[in-house]
Amino acid sequence: MQWLSRLERIIDSHLLRDVPLAGKTSLGIGGPARVFLSARNMADLKKVSEFANAEDVPLWVIGGGTNLLVHDEGLDGIVVSSIVLHKLKWEIQKEEVRIIAESGVHLSKILQLSMQSAWSGLEFASGIPGTIGGALAGNAGADGKGLCDVLEWVETIEPGGNSRTWLKKEISFSYRKCSLSLDRRIITRCCLNLRTANAEQVRSAIKSFQKKRSMQPRSTKTAGCVFKNPDGRISAGRLLDLAGCKGLRLGGVKVSEIHANFLEVEKDASARDVYAVIEECRRRVYESSGVWLELEIRLLGGPWGK
Ligand code: EPU
Repeated sequence: MQWLSRLERIIDSHLLRDVPLAGKTSLGIGGPARVFLSARNMADLKKVSEFANAEDVPLWVIGGGTNLLVHDEGLDGIVVSSIVLHKLKWEIQKEEVRIIAESGVHLSKILQLSMQSAWSGLEFASGIPGTIGGALAGNAGADGKGLCDVLEWVETIEPGGNSRTWLKKEISFSYRKCSLSLDRRIITRCCLNLRTANAEQVRSAIKSFQKKRSMQPRSTKTAGCVFKNPDGRISAGRLLDLAGCKGLRLGGVKVSEIHANFLEVEKDASARDVYAVIEECRRRVYESSGVWLELEIRLLGGPWGK
């Protein structure tokens, strides 16, 4: 890592070595980041992006860590957390509300603000953990609704360090996919369009989404749904359930008895255990229904399965 001293010379923020990523993911699993940037300002984020591109060093961007499985061996290169980007502001014009949120703002914070202020549009996001940046990168959603439905623009730092603003029409979204999701691109801010509404209606819509979430494990460590729903329609959880995966256990990892698309992990579980359960679940579903499930969670590092 001869590049590290060169990077240290050009930025103000702290560069930490061998930072365990387990504490930065909801699964509580994962080896260390060889170099972790605790960015103090946007200028350093641009510099690190430019540096990684010029020196061909891997650059990983993590948000709330709620949809990630980090390899036990950790990650080479530089890991940047967007958690430091946490400014949130809004403008109201008649019934239109524009929320401008930096990517590290937690979705739950925006939802809470919407509920208190009786703004409608984000109710579907109730119970989705993580940051708005991570939610955008994965087009998070529920019940056929996604963040793309309320999006106006997104600001990024492109690989190489230049800022760019993307209008919604320049971005393509599909079920749990967003074309902006790319290694070395850092999502920094976005603008969401909500509208003023009746407080009781907003509250009751949020409650009904919360009710659905009550059929999911909440007291254990998970990374949300592990697999995508095939075609975005058939429930992967249902297929896993029918294939007899509920309760399947390997090492410290268990397929939830509450909802089969969730893996629950214990303190001493490893990423290797999680991956082994994923493979076994895939195999069982393929054998019982002929469907090859695609991952919704992101695997970082690797190689996996060796
Ligand atoms: N089902 C089973 N067994 C199970 C799980 C589900 O039989 O183990 C059945 C349910 O009884 C229901 C049907 O399958 O009849 C659908 O289940 P659910 O309402 O839980 O919806 P889902 O399609 O499994 C999706 C999202 C969830 C989101 C819920 C509720 C995906 C992969 N999953 O689950 O999102 O919370 O709808 O809106 O899109 C996530 O993305 O991390 C996530 C958890």
